[in-house]
Amino acid sequence: MAKRLISLTVNGRKIQGDVEDRMLLVHFLRENLRLTGTHVGCDTSRCGACTVDINGESVKSCTVLAVQADGGDVRTIESMAQADGSLHPLQEGFRMEHGLQCGFCTPGMIMRSYRLLQENPSPSDEEIRMGISGNLCRCTGYQNIVKAIRYAANKMNQVSMKEAAE
Ligand code: FES
Ligand code: FES
Repeated sequence: MAKRLISLTVNGRKIQGDVEDRMLLVHFLRENLRLTGTHVGCDTSRCGACTVDINGESVKSCTVLAVQADGGDVRTIESMAQADGSLHPLQEGFRMEHGLQCGFCTPGMIMRSYRLLQENPSPSDEEIRMGISGNLCRCTGYQNIVKAIRYAANKMNQVSMKEAAE
């Protein structure tokens, strides 16, 4: 089958790839770029394990063709920690509040929560639950995921208040 050249930014790096028109973005990320933190948890577009950030929006990458991401700016879970290995407040929150068990849903949960906190830095628990309602977790019962996101929101808000005071 004919392939098409696409160019996009992934985690701050310019990427080019030859893809078939039918290739899903999640498969391009996992198979072509080896960014295997983005998971495939269903074949019905329901689970959210494949969630990434595209052009400032949360997107289930199994619902998008790679060619549709041409020219886009994609962020995956691999971009969340700092280069020195220090964790993003969301990653820290999931760790500190026991927001994961098997961890399969966690990359998608974190990427969705990242966008949620960009849009609403101080969400209520209800807003957190609504915000992650497209992401399924089969293990935790969600309570600790909500706590983890609240932990991250508090930490990120403290940092921005400190930066504003300096
Ligand atoms: S893999 Fe389940 S929503 Fe994408
Ligand atoms: S921690 Fe296992 S699916 Fe969420």
